[in-house]
Amino acid sequence: MRKPLIIGNWKMNTSLADATILATQIKNNIADLDVDVVICPPFVWLYPVAEILEKAPKNIHLGAQNMWFSSQGAMTGEVSPLMIKALAKYVILGHSERRSHFYEDSSLINDKIHAALENNLTPVVCVGEKSKKNHGKKIGRPSKKVAESDLISQLKGSLKHISRNDADKIIITYEPVWAISTTVGSEEATGAYAAEMIKEIRDTLADLFGTPASERIKILYGGSVDSENVREFVFQPEIDGVLAGGASLSAKEFIKICREAAGER
Ligand code: PGA
Repeated sequence: MRKPLIIGNWKMNTSLADATILATQIKNNIADLDVDVVICPPFVWLYPVAEILEKAPKNIHLGAQNMWFSSQGAMTGEVSPLMIKALAKYVILGHSERRSHFYEDSSLINDKIHAALENNLTPVVCVGEKSKKNHGKKIGRPSKKVAESDLISQLKGSLKHISRNDADKIIITYEPVWAISTTVGSEEATGAYAAEMIKEIRDTLADLFGTPASERIKILYGGSVDSENVREFVFQPEIDGVLAGGASLSAKEFIKICREAAGER
């Protein structure tokens, strides 16, 4: 089994004071756990959190939640790979909130993944089927067939022209949109369902990069993960860790998620 990786995506939450306390408490409580941890604060808190993590245990790292693909220039409001790599090692790309609210498509996400790899950043690439459309409203889980085809097209589009060597440096997160805690009418996915879909993802990665590479790539699950259900996901052999959103905003809850994932009671 690959060592579990636990990512906290703070999204557009926390004040500077909250971010400082959260990062400090997490840093002080995960050194003894056999998990790797990545915390992803909003851009403006990357620098203060990087300072907090300066002398942190080796198993905690910093990540950004997004990135533009060019190094510098006239891109008002954007943040470049060069800026991020001065502070962080990881970057979340293709999150469903970026895909839906900011109209990011797989081709743009593909450009960002290439840029991250060229800058030695580890891309955490999010893929996941959208909610089913019901009477014009997006709500609930689609059929498995629709989910699989959505997922495979996101994967193939986002990972275009990535070499086998580089494939090893990517982390994939499977996040079905209908299971994200803030999605209207969200439902919880079961561990068995997540494992089944992650197996599909791994098969697609094997088509793209060959079986040995596909077996080395870490694939996480994300969507309403908390300390109560985390074991249902991380103890599935197919699943290498989790990405938590809402539950990563409480130090106590996030540390508990890490403990549970490390197998402690
Ligand atoms: P959630 O968010 O854990 O609050 O469902 C996960 C995500 O969207 O990254």
